Amino acid sequence: MRNLLTGLDVGTSKVCALVGESLAEGELAILGHGVTPCSGLRKGVVVNIEATVEAIRAAVDEAEKTSGVRIGSVVTGVAGPHIRGLNSHGIVAVRGGEVGSRDVDRVIDAARAVAIPLDRQVLHILPQQFAVDDQEGVREPIGMAGVRLEARIHIVTAAQSYGQNLNKCCERAGVTPADMVFEPLASADAALFPEERELGVALIDIGGGTTDIVVFHGGAVMHTAVLPLGGNHLTSDVAAGLRTPISDAERLKVNYGVATNLIVRRDEMVQVPGVGGREPRVIARRILGEIIEPRMEEIFSMIQRELMRSGVADSLASGVVLVGGTSLLEGTQELAERIFGLPVRRGLPINLKAMPEELMKPMFTTAAGLVLHQNGARGVTNGMARNGRLGRLRNRLSDWVRDFF
Ligand SMILES: Nc1ncnc2c1ncn2[C@@H]1O[C@H](COP(=O)(O)OP(=O)(O)OP(=O)(O)O)[C@@H](O)[C@H]1O
Ligand SMILES: [Mg+2]
Repeated sequence: MRNLLTGLDVGTSKVCALVGESLAEGELAILGHGVTPCSGLRKGVVVNIEATVEAIRAAVDEAEKTSGVRIGSVVTGVAGPHIRGLNSHGIVAVRGGEVGSRDVDRVIDAARAVAIPLDRQVLHILPQQFAVDDQEGVREPIGMAGVRLEARIHIVTAAQSYGQNLNKCCERAGVTPADMVFEPLASADAALFPEERELGVALIDIGGGTTDIVVFHGGAVMHTAVLPLGGNHLTSDVAAGLRTPISDAERLKVNYGVATNLIVRRDEMVQVPGVGGREPRVIARRILGEIIEPRMEEIFSMIQRELMRSGVADSLASGVVLVGGTSLLEGTQELAERIFGLPVRRGLPINLKAMPEELMKPMFTTAAGLVLHQNGARGVTNGMARNGRLGRLRNRLSDWVRDFF
């Protein structure tokens, strides 16, 4: 039987279905893909079931046609301001003077035993580090001598109803939702180098409806957050500011928009289509910048606050990696560097070697990560060694958590 892996990124602007196949020795082939515009979500969550089902169906159909396989189960991405990330820790006494796998299970249980409201589901339990007696910063505690084992973990939860709505859309579109991954963790799997996670990096996915943040340090997830702002807000600002329809505003933004006017010459002009039979107007490109720049500054200032809250803002030696469609806006990197005071690069789905050329763009990192996740990248998602004990532990834990909730 073929081992098919389908990632389904249901975003605020588009649905992307990506079908892969797991081959021998961890190799991965990409068989096909489908991308369709989607209007059924607002700020990352489903608000219109019918429109979302239609978009999923169209993307899945296209992916089936291009790949020649029938898509059964899919792994979806979740985002939205209802997602919460929190750090927790637990302590247990070690039995028999040496840490065994049961002790590790117990300490993770102790750490995850924080009060999580019944209407929330646990998406991820991501171990950060262990301490054995006074020895901190331990990654593989098994076999170490000691009497006390401590674990620090990061827990990501989502409002149950949002996940249920997304699952319902998948089922109605004829596919089985098998698992759910917090979107920026999938993007991180696709776009980050392992060294970046070690040294400290913030991955920021600025999509259409949301901005998702995940901060890594020492190979582990230290902080996660979702902001309810994205590229659609820039488009609405342009539409309001220039009194032009949304579709024209979107085109103007994509073709001539800038995150900062520092990169625009004074004499650059652009044409704004007329509304209601009026003549098109010619305006300075800097006017477009004057509309977009304050909103981008607002988004980056909110991100900056989240980075401060992560507690490791001062030690992000690898800086910031920007993904998502809005990262393509000209001047975004320059503005981000100015506001964060950190090196900033644009991320692409580089870790999926078989990625089709036309999907080598920052808006397809989530879909690529959802496929990688199914091919054993979970250990990477949780920031520990790919085949390490923690990766397996986490797999087992997430199965357990899923059964439980
Ligand atoms: N070249 C470009 N310049 C500026 N913005 C762009 C460009 N290309 C795409 N965008 C913007 O990127 C956004 C879509 O990005 P993306 O596909 O990553 O979002 P999404 O995954 O559908 O949404 P979300 O993750 O927020 O639910 C849109 O607002 C679009 O206008
Ligand atoms: Mg997205």
